[in-house]
Amino acid sequence: MCGLCLLLCFVVVFYIFHHFVVKGKKCTSKVKLHGKTVIVTGSNTGIGKTTAIDLAQRGARVILACRSKQRGEAALQEVRRESGSNQVVFMQLDLGSLKSVRSFAETFLKSEPRLDILINNAGVYMQGRTEDGFGLMFGVNHLGHFLLTNLLLDRLKECGPSRIVNVSSLAHNFGKIDFDCLNSHKTLRIGTSNTEAFKIYSDSKLCNVLFTHELAKRLQGTSVTCYSLHPGAITTELTRNASFFSKIILQPVKLFLFKNVVQGSQTTLHCALQEGIEHLSGRYFSNCTVRELYAKAKDDAAAKKLWEISERFCGLP
Ligand SMILES: NC(=O)c1ccc[n+]([C@@H]2O[C@H](COP(=O)([O-])OP(=O)(O)OC[C@H]3O[C@@H](n4cnc5c(N)ncnc54)[C@H](OP(=O)(O)O)[C@@H]3O)[C@@H](O)[C@H]2O)c1
Ligand SMILES: *[C@@H]1O[C@H](CO)[C@@H](O)[C@H](O)[C@H]1NC(C)=O
Ligand SMILES: *[C@@H]1O[C@H](CO)[C@@H](O)[C@H](O)[C@H]1NC(C)=O
Ligand SMILES: *[C@@H]1O[C@H](CO)[C@@H](O)[C@H](O)[C@H]1NC(C)=O
Repeated sequence: MCGLCLLLCFVVVFYIFHHFVVKGKKCTSKVKLHGKTVIVTGSNTGIGKTTAIDLAQRGARVILACRSKQRGEAALQEVRRESGSNQVVFMQLDLGSLKSVRSFAETFLKSEPRLDILINNAGVYMQGRTEDGFGLMFGVNHLGHFLLTNLLLDRLKECGPSRIVNVSSLAHNFGKIDFDCLNSHKTLRIGTSNTEAFKIYSDSKLCNVLFTHELAKRLQGTSVTCYSLHPGAITTELTRNASFFSKIILQPVKLFLFKNVVQGSQTTLHCALQEGIEHLSGRYFSNCTVRELYAKAKDDAAAKKLWEISERFCGLP
């Protein structure tokens, strides 16, 4: 009998804890998006997919920019079904290939007259190299999105007020940017251990925050605003390539402390939709709230240097 009481107690405490602490704030904007066009990168799974469903429900034309035709088209059916909208299209985009980014941008600019919101959501937590020889996490999480954003910037400006949202991570706090390593090895760090992988992921997420900082400066005087964010800790496929051992450790942590994908997309939606946050352009959000950054994440000189090296890597003028 007492065992049952204990179990009941546990379930109640767990529920309260999840509801009031883990779940986090909800995006409360009621904005409708009829006639607006949105791109969400990496939207075939995870929080990208739930973000896309929400935006489609609000009437937006949603472009699912995903690398795999098969996974992308499967998601297309699901997003259409879940949102009840047929204004959803799949366009192939592999952020690990600068050529693919250019061809995506060309196709998009030719076929779609508008772009109102760009959501740079795709991300990897995996070691390796991109097609162009860059470290995989630097290449996909940062460089591919850098080129994409730059190629689409004029269209965003024409359609202003428009927004760019960069899905970063709290992990950026553990990152640093080693420009010498970038110059000599086209990657953020050398090393293949699990801890190195986490550090490189964190570095790449610091790149996202720094870029938002620099981009906001460059966008001053236009009607385009940009935001970076931490979506929370969420149960997704992100750690699909983590070691078996770390997956086992993560399992109970996930159950207690992680959000689901709908909860995990709320801060992205807040940055994309919330009225009246334009004066916070360039800032970093978490739990649908603007947050202060440590000095290294708003370091003007590092942000400028990263911008310049990224331009050189992409062959941008
Ligand atoms: N989950 C968390 O706890 C957490 C915490 C902080 C930040 N984040 C950030 O949230 C974002 C979304 O991650 P998630 O958790 O939803 O992970 P996910 O379920 O693994 O989704 C990641 C998406 O990115 C796509 N992607 C990977 N490499 C790509 C490439 N080269 N080109 C185009 N798309 C590519 C994936 O496509 P495929 O399915 O084809 O691989 C997938 O659609 C990431 O930026 C991540 O860093 C997540
Ligand atoms: C998010 O904000 C809500 C409401 O302000 C708060 O109750 C909750 O504890 C916060 N969660 C996190 C993880 O910060
Ligand atoms: C988002 O991050 C990418 C890659 O770090 C960068 O190229 C882009 O300019 C950033 N955009 C915004 C709005 O921060
Ligand atoms: C990631 O995991 C997949 C499937 O488990 C595997 O095929 C692939 O080789 C792994 N990649 C890396 C870089 O570990």
